[in-house]
Order: sequence, then C-alpha cells, then structure tokens
Amino acid sequence: MYGLVNKAIQDLVCSRFGKDKWQEIKQKAEINVDMFVSMEGYPDDVTHRLVKAASEVLELSPQAIMQAFGEFWVEYTSTEGYGEMMDMFGDTLPEFLENLDNLHSRVGVSFPKLQPPSFETVEIEDDSLNLQYYSDREGLSPMVVGLVKGLGKKFQTEVDITQTQSRDTGADCDEFLVKYKQQ
Ligand code: HEM
Repeated sequence: MYGLVNKAIQDLVCSRFGKDKWQEIKQKAEINVDMFVSMEGYPDDVTHRLVKAASEVLELSPQAIMQAFGEFWVEYTSTEGYGEMMDMFGDTLPEFLENLDNLHSRVGVSFPKLQPPSFETVEIEDDSLNLQYYSDREGLSPMVVGLVKGLGKKFQTEVDITQTQSRDTGADCDEFLVKYKQQ
C-alpha cells in the first residue's frame, strides 16, 4: 500500500502512545525504514506486520487497532491535504458512502498504482443502508467499521454499524448494516 497508509499508522501510534512505543513497534515488525514516503508503494506485508506488532506492543487486538486506524484515517487525510477532496463527495453520510468509488477514482489520479476498494450501497432507507465492501485484500473489514464511525463524526451523524456478512465465512463480499441519525 502507499506510504501514506503506513505514515498514518505512525502518526496514530505516536500521538496516542508516544514515539518510544512506535520505535518498539517498528523494531518488532523488523522494519528498517526511517520515514515512510506518502507517494511510494510498499508491500502490503509491511502494513500487516506493523498492525501485528502494534497489537503485541500495545496489548490490543489487531481488530481494535484496525478499527482505531480507520477512524483516524478520516481526520488524517483531511489534515494531510485531502480535505477538499473529501468535501467534494457528499454533504451527508449516506451521500458520501454512495460516492466512495468516485472518491477513490479521484484519489487514483494522484496515486496511479492505487488498488482501491469498491463499495456499494443498497436498500437505502431514511435511517439505514447496507454497505457492501469488495477488496483485493483480506482482513480489512474492521478498518471499514472504524472508517464509517470516523465519517459519522465528520458529518455529525450518530452511526451504528454491524457486520452482517463476511468473506471469512464464504460470502462474496463483506456487508455492513449502517444505521444513522443526523444530529
Ligand atoms: C481523501 C480521502 C482518502 C484518501 C486520500 C484515500 C486513499 C487511500 C489509499 C492511498 C489507499 C491504499 C490503497 C493502495 O495503496 O493500493 C486506500 C485504501 C482504502 N481506502 Fe481510502 N482514501 C480516502 C478515503 C477513504 C474513505 C472515507 C474510506 C471509507 C470507507 C476509504 C476506504 C478505504 C479502504 C477500505 C481501503 C483498503 C483497500 C482495500 O480494501 O484493498 N478510504 N485509500
């Protein structure tokens, strides 16, 4: 994945747990990179090793780390120069969720080797929708839970998200029920 992702993990760990913990995590993950470069591609394995090591050092489950990361990503991208881009793709949570593929197409202009996820929103009601998540990668669904919670904060919308089907148990995509209430 692009270095921007690994940099965000670094930022999250340093701001919540301090620089020493980050050094410990990097050492445990056997990563000898001083600074990640946002626009450079790194093997997915680097990100997975960082999450695993963070889980061991911080004594949190990998799922909890990925969820916290997803939530953080919404703030992080806004402060790292992608705020205006985020604002282009919707004024409400459901509108934004419907536009996630358009957002990543736009992101792909700056990150030409992006392997983006794909999302589909179905059964949209006044206060809920089903969000389907398709990906070339495995194991990232806890991150989606955090991302949607982070978007809830961005749009000042109360959200409740539960996973209703999983690729881990043979479904063709991960699916989430998202209930929301604009504040
Ligand atoms: C302007 C804001 C955003 C930027 C710049 C951005 C950029 C990226 C980048 C660089 C990657 C790594 C993929 C790669 O390197 O091949 C990624 C992956 C991902 N993004 Fe975004 N993203 C943004 C917003 C969002 C939002 C709001 C969501 C909410 C659901 C989201 C969901 C994901 C997911 C789930 C992945 C994992 C990739 C996979 O499943 O294969 N992103 N994004």
